Amino acid sequence: MKIVKWVFLFIALILFGLFICSSNASFIPADSYLLTCGSKQNISFQGQTYLPDLEHSSVKLNSQANSFVATYNSSAPFPIYQSARIFTRSVSYEFDIKQKGHHWVRLYFYPIPNSGHDLKSASLTVVTENFVLLNNFTFENYKGSYMWREFVINVDSDSLSLTFIPSNNSVAFVNAIEVVSIPVELLPDQALSLPSTAVSGISELALETVYRLNMGGPLLTARNDTLGRIWQNDVQYLHVNSSAANFSISPSTIKYPATVSPETAPNWVYATVESMGDANVADSNFNVTWVLNVDPDFTYFLRVHFCDIVSKSLNSLVFNMYINSDVWPSVDLSSLTGGLAVPYYKDFVANSSDSGVLTISIGPDAAADADNAIMNGLEIMKMSNEARSLDGVSPVEHLLPPRATKTKHTAIIIGSAIGVVAVAVMIVLFYCCFVCGKSKTPQQPHSWLPLPLYGNSLTLTKMSTVSQKSGTASCISLTSTNLGRFFSFQEIMDATNKFDESSLLGVGGFGRVYKGTLEDGTKVAVKRGNPRSEQGIAEFRTEIEMLSKLRHRHLVSLIGYCDERSEMILVYEYMANGPLRSHLYGTDLPHLSWKQRLEICIGAARGLHYLHTGATQSIIHRDVKTTNILLDENFVAKVADFGLSKTGPAIDQTHVSTAVKGSFGYLDPEYFRRQQLTEKSDVYSFGVVLMEVLCTRPALNPVLPREQVNIAEWAMTWQKKGMLDQIMDSNLVGKVNSASLKKFGDTAEKCLAEYGADRPSMGDVLWNLEYALQLEEMSSALAEPEDNSTNHIQGLPLTTLEQFDNSVSMINGGHPANDDDAEDAATSAVFSQLVNPRGR
Ligand SMILES: *[C@@H]1O[C@H](CO)[C@@H](O)[C@H](O)[C@H]1NC(C)=O
Ligand SMILES: *[C@@H]1O[C@H](CO)[C@@H](O)[C@H](O)[C@H]1NC(C)=O
Ligand SMILES: *[C@@H]1O[C@H](CO)[C@@H](O)[C@H](O)[C@H]1NC(C)=O
Repeated sequence: MKIVKWVFLFIALILFGLFICSSNASFIPADSYLLTCGSKQNISFQGQTYLPDLEHSSVKLNSQANSFVATYNSSAPFPIYQSARIFTRSVSYEFDIKQKGHHWVRLYFYPIPNSGHDLKSASLTVVTENFVLLNNFTFENYKGSYMWREFVINVDSDSLSLTFIPSNNSVAFVNAIEVVSIPVELLPDQALSLPSTAVSGISELALETVYRLNMGGPLLTARNDTLGRIWQNDVQYLHVNSSAANFSISPSTIKYPATVSPETAPNWVYATVESMGDANVADSNFNVTWVLNVDPDFTYFLRVHFCDIVSKSLNSLVFNMYINSDVWPSVDLSSLTGGLAVPYYKDFVANSSDSGVLTISIGPDAAADADNAIMNGLEIMKMSNEARSLDGVSPVEHLLPPRATKTKHTAIIIGSAIGVVAVAVMIVLFYCCFVCGKSKTPQQPHSWLPLPLYGNSLTLTKMSTVSQKSGTASCISLTSTNLGRFFSFQEIMDATNKFDESSLLGVGGFGRVYKGTLEDGTKVAVKRGNPRSEQGIAEFRTEIEMLSKLRHRHLVSLIGYCDERSEMILVYEYMANGPLRSHLYGTDLPHLSWKQRLEICIGAARGLHYLHTGATQSIIHRDVKTTNILLDENFVAKVADFGLSKTGPAIDQTHVSTAVKGSFGYLDPEYFRRQQLTEKSDVYSFGVVLMEVLCTRPALNPVLPREQVNIAEWAMTWQKKGMLDQIMDSNLVGKVNSASLKKFGDTAEKCLAEYGADRPSMGDVLWNLEYALQLEEMSSALAEPEDNSTNHIQGLPLTTLEQFDNSVSMINGGHPANDDDAEDAATSAVFSQLVNPRGR
């Protein structure tokens, strides 16, 4: 009996051991759907088996009636393209998801001939619940005959839907679909934006593979890659073919360290390498460069794979790697890996600075004696933009057809209503064009808005939304009275000491910003755009006209421009103290006092209030955040980037990171729900700024526990408990008047209201902040005991103030445009009479 028991235990142990070993050996995806659409039988492709799409019990098609099947047996390029499912209406596949997290979504398309529909001119739009994967793709303007796309989607529920949307009068189709789990460790949340900014929040985004290169090695397919990836040879992307030489060793000699696994990249990737063409000869001072075309409107995630298989001994290979012109210096693989033939990889975030190409180079490091440089693999993935799209600027909500259950009757009503509106619009349009056509009308229909000249995808998103909503508003004529000063290129060269790198303040998607000094000693910030197309020049001019009209003490002003030699250079006033954010956290700058913070917030609020109400046409900033509030030498706050680009004219090395983090952290939730952009979206973002100023932490910090990640949510839970002081900047504790703090918290809370209608106007916010400042000043002036100053000042009931508050903001709303100083003076004069006991 006892022996049997022992034998049993022994066998169990062996089985358990085997189980552990086999589960270590390779990754087994929790979810793995390989579907051939419209086929009746299994298809085998690249060593994997694809099942007919409707045979899977955990995949559903929500509207089979609107789809039909086409098959084509003869000359499909691969077996997987032999059948297709064609959709005449928008139809969704629903996948049950066993394990949340990152999933590959791979789609295969081949416009099968003679299917009864012209699939070549079909328009393909594919969305998940949250992300746009393809938008209006058609084979008509595509070079290949078939297409394969790979996406990464972070699935956070127990199902994933893929909706195929045909556009009007056309169909959509798909030949095969893969939805497969990705190992948790594969994709990071953070990557480096050269030179030295950490960008986080990547795991929240959707990604699309645009390049995956096996340097110096053969094509690898699903047969050779446990995650079903395809790795392409790199030679066609080399800038100069002869600059690189390939080298390889046996894949079995690759020694994976604990931090890298065959899932990161198969050993075939690490066992082949491109190195410098004539390495180790006397004059080998050159770079090996790959030039990769990308969509300039997106930002990219790059993973670079290295494995030193060329050196004979340790420490004989040190080189530089460059992304565009930014260097990752002195890559010393021996010290990074501790051995030869040991894989290593590094993640980056970069964009093409509007050039439409990413250039990746490796070259010798002048400081080291070694004269070689290598690269084994390179992956480039497009990151979804602010509209959560990987293709264009329309969010999912815009692409899904409205859920229509209309009867004929309502259809007629709607039809005639549309007719009436259309006629009205045409009349207005006609009138506008007739009237404005005579004046100098800008080309872009939406050019009345302060559009970003070098806008990246994020800003473009908003812009297109606004232009749709604004319709006929385009006809506001711009009288080009004052375009600012014209600078000659020579003057700019002198001012910036020939664009000396040491005067570089920041780099962004649009180009570079330099500090400069004019002949008369005025300090300026010089923003130099990348050379652009004809259209870029038109936009450039429109921008100058627009910006010249906006003048306010709390807006960073444009001094002039230079368009000589097809340069596009803008000259702004120089803001000595840089962005507000750098005075809050992440630097060694001294802490701001509570009073300073209030004054800065008031200044910024005043600038925004002017944008919203001061100009003839209300202007929505659309990108309010602490990096866009700049401080001059006296810590006077000025709002920047209210028209030009995402990156301000002062120190801002975080272009990409603000594009990714900032936008999500500051974005009005209602804007995404309803797709209506109003001034109240700025008010929401400003609420986030207020919380950031109080708590001195980033708007979004993915490193923190879930409930703390988003400052708006986190601070609101404490504010609602009336305990905001628990999470405020520890440097402020005990130094803030409690009534002032309460007023500040209440104001931020109102700004962060769920619905725009519940949020105050910028004028009201301004007034409430003024009030908070007065409370603070009085408490320090009168050395008033803190706990006695709750809701009223020196016997004046709050209600009186608030009634007054409303009337003031009404007056402000009607104030003439450029009169901010007078307005301020008036406000504070009345205010001081009311609240300053000595003045009464
Ligand atoms: C390696 O280099 C040789 C010589 O230039 C070339 O013929 C070959 O195609 C290259 N192989 C790969 C995989 O790039
Ligand atoms: C890929 O895998 C197939 C089948 O396992 C094998 O025959 C082929 O040699 C492999 N190719 C490479 C480059 O690894
Ligand atoms: C290599 O490329 C970088 C980035 O473009 C450049 O700064 C560097 O001067 C180049 N090195 C050589 C030796 O050409």
